[in-house]
Amino acid sequence: MRHPLVMGNWKLNGSKQLTADLISGLQSALTEVQGCKVVIAPPALYLAQAVAAVQGSDIGVGAQNIDVNLSGAFTGETSAEMVKDNGAGYVIIGHSERRTYHHESDELVAEKFAVVKQQGLIPVLCIGETEAENEAGKTEEVCARQIDAVIKTQGVEAFHGAVIAYEPVWAIGTGKSATPAQAQAVHKFIRTHIAKQSPTVADQVIIQYGGSVNDKNAAELFGQPDIDGALVGGASLKADAFSVIVKAAAAAKA
Ligand code: PGA
Repeated sequence: MRHPLVMGNWKLNGSKQLTADLISGLQSALTEVQGCKVVIAPPALYLAQAVAAVQGSDIGVGAQNIDVNLSGAFTGETSAEMVKDNGAGYVIIGHSERRTYHHESDELVAEKFAVVKQQGLIPVLCIGETEAENEAGKTEEVCARQIDAVIKTQGVEAFHGAVIAYEPVWAIGTGKSATPAQAQAVHKFIRTHIAKQSPTVADQVIIQYGGSVNDKNAAELFGQPDIDGALVGGASLKADAFSVIVKAAAAAKA
């Protein structure tokens, strides 16, 4: 039985004030909620503050990226060891914004996946096709390739305890979410693809949907059998909207 995971990706947004306000807002809104894991991913500079602020609640904290190196002459980077040292438990990797703006390849993302796992942290592997790839009918091919980069180097077992976030690039920040049926079809494909190598791993892996999830469309998305929660960008910056999404996941999967 998979428990849903709703994660807030704050991207390059936040301040000490926003971190404090958003966490206290979530804590009061989510006191009664059970059966859905909630994780927030603030910018790295606010990880320590967020970890301290969530003490005493079930909210987890994650980073948005890490370098493949653990230490050394890599100016400007943050390591998985530092994320762990600060008490965060999750790391988003391979987000499409990093693949696009920082030219991260499938291979580099797979290397990061391995580093995150070696540190005992939970990787949230973002995959998904661009609009052009979607229109060319390449959605499944792209998702399979992005997953296979990890399987090739680490075996299918690497997905044990890991999280996949299917985020069609055309749906991110556009207000144009995939329909529940569209998303379910891709999620099912992803699970079946992994099941070819290990039904056990496929059965437990959490597959989140991401891309314009909001308080209005969340419930219908979570009603789909292979959608195990969401990676939420814009709507994660508002305690009210994010709490509604979390409650929708808890209710749909109860
Ligand atoms: P969005 O972003 O919810 O603002 O579309 C999702 C993401 O990029 O993780």
